[in-house]
Amino acid sequence: METSLETLEAEFVARIAAAADEEALRAVERDAVGKSGAIARLLAEIPGLPPERRREAGQGANRLKAKFLESLAAARQSLAAAELECERSGAGFDPTLPPPLPRRGSLHPLTRVQRELEDLFTSMGYTVLDGPEVETDYYNFEALNIPADHPARDMQDTFHCEPDGHLVMRTHTSPVQVRAMERLSPPFRAIVPGKVFRQETVDASHDHTFHQMEGLVVGKGISVGHLIGAMKTLLRGIFRREIEIRLRPGYFPFVEPGFELDARCPFCDDGCSVCKRTTWIELLPCGMVHPNVLRAGGIDPEEWTGFAFGLGLSRLVMLRYGIDDIRLLLGGDLRFLEQF
Ligand code: FA5
Repeated sequence: METSLETLEAEFVARIAAAADEEALRAVERDAVGKSGAIARLLAEIPGLPPERRREAGQGANRLKAKFLESLAAARQSLAAAELECERSGAGFDPTLPPPLPRRGSLHPLTRVQRELEDLFTSMGYTVLDGPEVETDYYNFEALNIPADHPARDMQDTFHCEPDGHLVMRTHTSPVQVRAMERLSPPFRAIVPGKVFRQETVDASHDHTFHQMEGLVVGKGISVGHLIGAMKTLLRGIFRREIEIRLRPGYFPFVEPGFELDARCPFCDDGCSVCKRTTWIELLPCGMVHPNVLRAGGIDPEEWTGFAFGLGLSRLVMLRYGIDDIRLLLGGDLRFLEQF
């Protein structure tokens, strides 16, 4: 026993002294005092020894273990000291090497298109406004000429925030129309980009959370002609060329007359999968602001008129980048986002 303890001691003290770094030290540590290392094996042999030798064997093993732990601690201390000394002396530092590259992020495609449109509209004198995402029933519906029990409420499946339905997650950016009228005196032009929420069955083109951009212009003598002009400028800005448009009648209680604006498909001449082979893309609802809405905003409809539009920003981003599933936009998958 004594001889084998001495041999073990000599072997491990030499290995500890030879360990050049922390990784090597950890390996010796494992072999010496680890779960199935040399000390553990010595201790495991004790029950098989004659009773009179057990005490001595146990003490020998523990002494050896203490010795190993002490040598390991001393070796760690001198490695750390040597490392510090090396850093201080500048050895191993090459000032000609390039620094490690920082990981760079990029803008989300929604943010990109939103900022581009904000630049475009502010260059035309529009103000960019914001509004609350948790909205009162009054601004989301009532002030927009959609009274309680009006069938038009069924057009937008709503998340209610409380049982009496007073607070809702806004279903569109239109509530900011009346908030804007209350704050700004006419004439004014504003856009309102933002997130909206609907209790929808989610599929490739419908999400429960998506982005819209509202537009509102109030002034004297504002007509459908101004609306068409603004929409053509918007499309030219987005697609960087002239895009033909058409208006179809559309029903929204807060505009009269109301339209659905279609744009000639920018990707084909004779029908493709984007325009579902019709050569037209349904792009945005719009119309002339209803007199009741102007009144709700404290504006006299006899003196002022206006137009409004509600761009589906998420769908526009999909069109712009050829994204075929809306769920990718807010899904947070880096494999998708890193492409932008
Ligand atoms: C509205 O939300 C009206 N507030 C728009 C408006 C504003 C009309 C001003 C007149 C004047 P609509 O529910 O159609 O309308 O939604 C507008 C656009 O949002 C749609 O054209 C579509 O592009 C987009 N949209 C609607 N539902 C979803 C959805 N679940 N997922 C993604 N985009 C959607």
